[in-house]
Amino acid sequence: MDQARGAGYLTDVRYPAHFHAEQAPLWLAAVLAALGRAAPAATSWCEVGCGQGFGALVLAAANPSVRFTGIDINPEHIEIARRRADAAGLENVRFLCADVRDPDAVEGSFSHIVTHGVLSWVGDDVREAFVAFTARHLAPGGIAAVHYMSEPGGSAFRAFHSVFRQLAGRPDAVAEGLRLLTAMRDAGAGFFQLYPHAGASLDDLLTRDADYIAHEYMNPDFRPLAFREVQGAFAQAGLDWLGSAMPVENVDALSLPAEAARVIEEIRDPVLRETMKDMARNQAMRYDLFAHPAPAPGNAAHMALLRQPVWGMLPGAPFLGPEAETIVFDTRIGPVEGDARVFRPLLQRLGQGPARFADLEQVPPFAGRPGLLNQVFQMALGARFAHPVQPVRDPFGAGRLNRLLLQEAQAGAHVPALSAPALGSGFEVSAEDLAALSAGGGAPHLRLMFVLDA
Ligand SMILES: C[S@@+](CC[C@H](N)C(=O)[O-])C[C@H]1O[C@@H](n2cnc3c(N)ncnc32)[C@H](O)[C@@H]1O
Repeated sequence: MDQARGAGYLTDVRYPAHFHAEQAPLWLAAVLAALGRAAPAATSWCEVGCGQGFGALVLAAANPSVRFTGIDINPEHIEIARRRADAAGLENVRFLCADVRDPDAVEGSFSHIVTHGVLSWVGDDVREAFVAFTARHLAPGGIAAVHYMSEPGGSAFRAFHSVFRQLAGRPDAVAEGLRLLTAMRDAGAGFFQLYPHAGASLDDLLTRDADYIAHEYMNPDFRPLAFREVQGAFAQAGLDWLGSAMPVENVDALSLPAEAARVIEEIRDPVLRETMKDMARNQAMRYDLFAHPAPAPGNAAHMALLRQPVWGMLPGAPFLGPEAETIVFDTRIGPVEGDARVFRPLLQRLGQGPARFADLEQVPPFAGRPGLLNQVFQMALGARFAHPVQPVRDPFGAGRLNRLLLQEAQAGAHVPALSAPALGSGFEVSAEDLAALSAGGGAPHLRLMFVLDA
């Protein structure tokens, strides 16, 4: 495998297309509001290490008034991204083939800077360059969403990396790595007994394509990072940590075991608290939010932020009948159980049409408990039951991109999401729905959401 062009990072294997809903401006605005922080007006969004630029394309089509930039070191990735942007006639997105270590990689500032799947797979120099890039290019009031593999849960995967790396250069490296790891697990290797989540991850790897696994484990660098080092690097660059882009992780009551929460409650140092939360959840990946320092809003300002978004229900949201007692959320930190009495009123209200925070504030059990309602909205966002919605003024780019992606899906390409301008985001579609939509059919609400007939 060729690492020369990427100065370390693999560039001869394409990274498959992915879509990350956490990178959408409306998602980030809703999470920030929950944390008590005003989101920047979305004007300019940049992804560092954008891969094939799939996320940037889908978001650009859904947010025609925002300028999108994707930067990647791999020329083939950039070529694919540019080809799709041209074919869909998207004029608000550009792709730059550049190394984030180059201080002249890009000019100007961005209201949103995001990165996903990069920082744990590169050397210290690239990580440092990314922090410097963010400090240099984040507009005042802007937000950075930073994804990485984290300690302690991610550390187990260094053992996977060690196995795959020793096979690098062999034509069958990925298959042989998978074979060896599976054989060790079947043989009852102590590693898999001590780290059951590594076994679950191996099962997931067995369903993935070889290119994904190569990017995950064949790069020379792989290092899960401690929150304190990432937060420390951004603090030195003058940026504050605000919380997680993954809503459930900002809701301690639902994401921490009760006993551990009591221990953590006593800790005053915010960095140590977060480190202990990572331990309680055996956190394997983090999605941290950083911004320039700003004063914390008072209660009234926080309530005003919460009341801003209009929320809609997403296809596939569950129906909670009167007999249901609990609702289970499948989160990155495992299944999390919620009380149906708390989630039912939100889902019922959204089932009738878009709603604001204020529409539920007086509904039992939320009357006088805005904190609880805030948590319920955040859990619904994280579970993809609900999402902020926006008026659609220009659906044409999304329609063109979606029709192009459906043609590609018909030809066998992997299409992880389509562009949904009412959400200012993308939405994942099952293989059956993709097939039906490409054939000119499919559920009317999906055709409408993806503006396929506009
Ligand atoms: C695992 S992929 C993630 C792609 C995309 N962010 C996603 O989540 O689907 C990591 C990407 O980072 C890019 N990359 C690695 N080092 C880089 C650097 N120094 N500057 C810019 N891009 C880099 C790689 O080429 C690759 O496309």
